[in-house]
Amino acid sequence: MTRFERLRLDGVTRRFGGVDALAGLSLEIRRGEFIALLGPSGCGKSTALNCLAGLLPLSSGSIWRDDTRLDTLPPEKRGFGMVFQNYALFPHMSVQKNVSFGLQMRGVPRAEARRRTADAIRLVHLEEHARKLPGQLSGGQQQRVAIARAVVVEPSLVLMDEPLSNLDAKLRLEMRTEIRRLHQALGLTTVYVTHDQEEALSLADRLVVLRDGRVQQIGSPEEVHTRPVNRHVADFMGYRNLLPGSADGAYTKINNTGVRVKGTPIGSVSDGSPVVAAIRPEDVSLTGDLEATVEVAEYQGREIAAEVRTDDGLVLHVRTGQRHAPGDKVRLGFPPDRLLIFPADAS
Ligand SMILES: Nc1ncnc2c1ncn2[C@@H]1O[C@H](COP(=O)(O)OP(=O)(O)OP(=O)(O)O)[C@@H](O)[C@H]1O
Ligand SMILES: [Mg+2]
Repeated sequence: MTRFERLRLDGVTRRFGGVDALAGLSLEIRRGEFIALLGPSGCGKSTALNCLAGLLPLSSGSIWRDDTRLDTLPPEKRGFGMVFQNYALFPHMSVQKNVSFGLQMRGVPRAEARRRTADAIRLVHLEEHARKLPGQLSGGQQQRVAIARAVVVEPSLVLMDEPLSNLDAKLRLEMRTEIRRLHQALGLTTVYVTHDQEEALSLADRLVVLRDGRVQQIGSPEEVHTRPVNRHVADFMGYRNLLPGSADGAYTKINNTGVRVKGTPIGSVSDGSPVVAAIRPEDVSLTGDLEATVEVAEYQGREIAAEVRTDDGLVLHVRTGQRHAPGDKVRLGFPPDRLLIFPADAS
């Protein structure tokens, strides 16, 4: 394995037909870190990953592994392992052959290759399937082969592009744990692309949130979850209630209602200016003094996700442990530290 302390992306930009798919991504990845690139479809996640892997040339910027410039090297010289969404296994080769292929290509002696292949297959719990062809395996098992194949060469960096998106919900959860376990057990450095905020929050040490090719926020899961830097990140991170209003002293007046709320300003909010008040459904308190009526109640196991409407027509999403039904009256409150106030024009 190529040992390194840091991998540095410096203003990495990729243009397609004059449009920036990725605009000036700067990021330092420390050895052993698990980074998630997160954002909606088309925001540039795969572009960023492919630039790192060497599958796409940069339009400008540079990539460094410690003091070695990497972006001028072809993919095979970078020493990275890739796991793609569609597995990209060789269909005519057994699991064993698929996993050992990279070792063979690198000229690893036969006995050592056999041992490392067996180790990698054991790591992903596929011992019993080693002689099968990919077509004889389930989606989750195929994804395990893809992961074994990527880690068997002991890459300095593992790149994963939405590796779980083809799996059903239960397998996705299992493989999520598996990926984190492998990352820790093998001391890997991982860059993981996903559009699933929950997946990113649960896996990564740090998140990079992208929008339209630009970095919006880089931070720990907790930072991004509790203090999104702008309303776009908030929207993406599950602040489902985004209420347009205007700043009114220490309060926010919600447009077209008599509702005044007190929140935590993020960024510069000047008196009278248009703002967006943001709060997650689970953070709306059901012991407040704003009256509302339940309109829709969705059963979600331990909780009910409800859509409620105040007398002056403000619609809010809330969650409750009570068994509320349509027509029920509730009283809402907004904990000021959970209600974030963003400037409305922040991009
Ligand atoms: N080969 C290409 N030629 C032209 N435009 C491209 C090409 N690849 C990507 N793009 C554009 O660049 C932008 C970013 O694409 P990218 O594939 O990186 O998005 P993404 O975040 O991975 O999205 P998804 O979640 O849908 O996979 C998109 O607007 C896309 O249309
Ligand atoms: Mg993509």
